[in-house]
Amino acid sequence: MVDTARAGDWRILREHKTGYLKVLKVERMGVNGREVGFFKYASPAKQAKYIGPLVANELIANRLGQLLHLPMARTELAHVKDRLGIVSVMHPGKGLQTWADLKEGIRKEVGRHLTDPRRLERTFVFDAWICNIDRSGKNIMVYKQGDRLDFYLIDHELSLLGAVKFENKPWNAPYWDNIRRYTRGYHPALLSHATRYEPFEPHIAEIQRLEPGVIRSVLDSCPSVVLSESDRALTEELLLLRQKKLAKIIARCVQET
Ligand SMILES: Nc1ncnc2c1ncn2[C@@H]1O[C@H](COP(=O)(O)OP(=O)(O)OP(=O)(O)O)[C@@H](O)[C@H]1O
Ligand SMILES: [Mg+2]
Repeated sequence: MVDTARAGDWRILREHKTGYLKVLKVERMGVNGREVGFFKYASPAKQAKYIGPLVANELIANRLGQLLHLPMARTELAHVKDRLGIVSVMHPGKGLQTWADLKEGIRKEVGRHLTDPRRLERTFVFDAWICNIDRSGKNIMVYKQGDRLDFYLIDHELSLLGAVKFENKPWNAPYWDNIRRYTRGYHPALLSHATRYEPFEPHIAEIQRLEPGVIRSVLDSCPSVVLSESDRALTEELLLLRQKKLAKIIARCVQET
């Protein structure tokens, strides 16, 4: 399921970002030409202290998003500089920019400019399911599609056990039922669009239709080197519990607008 066939082919171009996690810009020749991506990894010490199983969180969120027909950045397990991490592949589309960089007039009415605005609603519900605390405007990439805009999603490190570790709250604490509270301080790009419950209903139902066996197979696609058995079991419990509670979580968020 995870494409590791060409892992190791990536060449470092430069450091893209420093900070508590380093992100390296990388490239390789793919079957359809040059590909550019962004490599990140966390040391065992950083995982234990701040961020949990980063690589697994990225892979699991990515695979679940794909199952829900969300536009996820292509994300691969990769070895770069002897580190096992993930590469998030850059879309070759024209006019690539972050949601945060969109002109304010466009951002406010972005639904009118997108090829498929319902995917924004689906993204919001998906983020609620996986406890993503960081859907900031820097983690939605927008590009031109004809005379409209399309988007894809990056950076799911602060979801699942990453969010749990970072916020230092037990995975099943009531804290996680209040989206507005746990995203406070993270500048969520989509929260201001969550004003009515009805548009979210079909997306909630779609997530609730995912069979436990399908969720389990996504978890099982993560190699044990990036996800311990105990973290795998916790992630599964988290996903199954929030799948059940999703309608209530979204309804509460909308009521508190
Ligand atoms: N698929 C992609 N397409 C375009 N740019 C990307 C992609 N993946 C990562 N990037 C770039 O790399 C940056 C860092 O990646 P990412 O957001 O995953 O890491 P991060 O450590 O959480 O960074 P930040 O703290 O800035 O959110 C992004 O802000 C973006 O500029
Ligand atoms: Mg980011």
